[in-house]
Amino acid sequence: MDDLRQKYIDAVAAASDETALEDIRVQAVGKKGEVALKMRELGKMTPEERQIAGPKLNALKDEINSAISAKKSALADAALDERLRTEWLDVTLPGRPQRQGTIHPISQVTEEISAIFGDMGFSVAEGPQVESDWYNFDALNIPAEHPTRTEMDTFYMTMPDGDNRPPHVLRTHTSPVQIRAMEMQGAPIRVIAPGRVYRADYDQTHTPMFHQLEGLAIDKDISMANLKWVLEEFCRAFFELDGIELRFRASHFPFTEPSAEVDIRCSWAGGTLKLGEGDDWMEILGSGMVHPHVLKSAGVDPDEWQGFAFGMGIDRLAMLKYGIPDLRAFFDSDLRWLRHYGFAALDVPTMRGGLSR
Ligand code: PHE
Repeated sequence: MDDLRQKYIDAVAAASDETALEDIRVQAVGKKGEVALKMRELGKMTPEERQIAGPKLNALKDEINSAISAKKSALADAALDERLRTEWLDVTLPGRPQRQGTIHPISQVTEEISAIFGDMGFSVAEGPQVESDWYNFDALNIPAEHPTRTEMDTFYMTMPDGDNRPPHVLRTHTSPVQIRAMEMQGAPIRVIAPGRVYRADYDQTHTPMFHQLEGLAIDKDISMANLKWVLEEFCRAFFELDGIELRFRASHFPFTEPSAEVDIRCSWAGGTLKLGEGDDWMEILGSGMVHPHVLKSAGVDPDEWQGFAFGMGIDRLAMLKYGIPDLRAFFDSDLRWLRHYGFAALDVPTMRGGLSR
């Protein structure tokens, strides 16, 4: 019995975790454990022997059980000490506000622009970024041999062998959404379409992927005067700045007639981009009265309906409004840049709450 006692007291002392302890308990004092087997032998003993062996076995059982539970709480204490040592936290340190992420200026500005046009009764339309050349060009009155196709530095998709769908491109502008929206909703219509567009171009103010926002308003009596009012009103609301100066410049687009481009006065002095001052002009949008051919392509009768369209560069507007001098940095995913120029997630722009704060 002394050997038995020593064996299990040693085993308990050496156990390194709860599972090992449980194994020892089953082996020693479980129903079929060594102590239970010994107790079964009591029946074969003389009454005198039994009187000595019985209490001794019970005492041994108790001793092993209490050694196990003492060891159990010692292990738990050690585990807690280890956690306290490694998960140490100085609760007296001052709190550090840490924003996990920010809203990208492009997203923020898209929301701002949408809020302004939403207030004027425009709803949001969408179209695919991989577009057939019919929607991107033909339907917009740009025939195959038209120079605009090469001027736009188009990315053409290679179609798999045996695929006889028409040629596809990465859309070079959001104007194809004009066609898709009119096909779906007919006239009258008032929509904006923000989204990604692609051209093979790269410098301080151009990236191969950038963002445009298309506008389209078709009704019975819409004129160039309405277009001018909407764009001026938009710029005033968007830039939240007195002394904004716009320049409407006669221009040419195959899908509008007449056409105008709009530039905004700015300065690049000292490497910072400032609005409303200086001798530079930055082009922010193209616009005009929708060409009858375009209406016809989209199934709208040009003898009955007319209207205006415009396409603005969202990235350019973000650069101007928030004084961000290099467009390429927008898409570098540099966390320091994102933290500096990003917006708090709850800063949702509305016309009532204020666009930006
Ligand atoms: N799609 C033209 C561009 O990308 C902009 C535009 C849109 C011009 C609508 C007129 C009307 O340059």
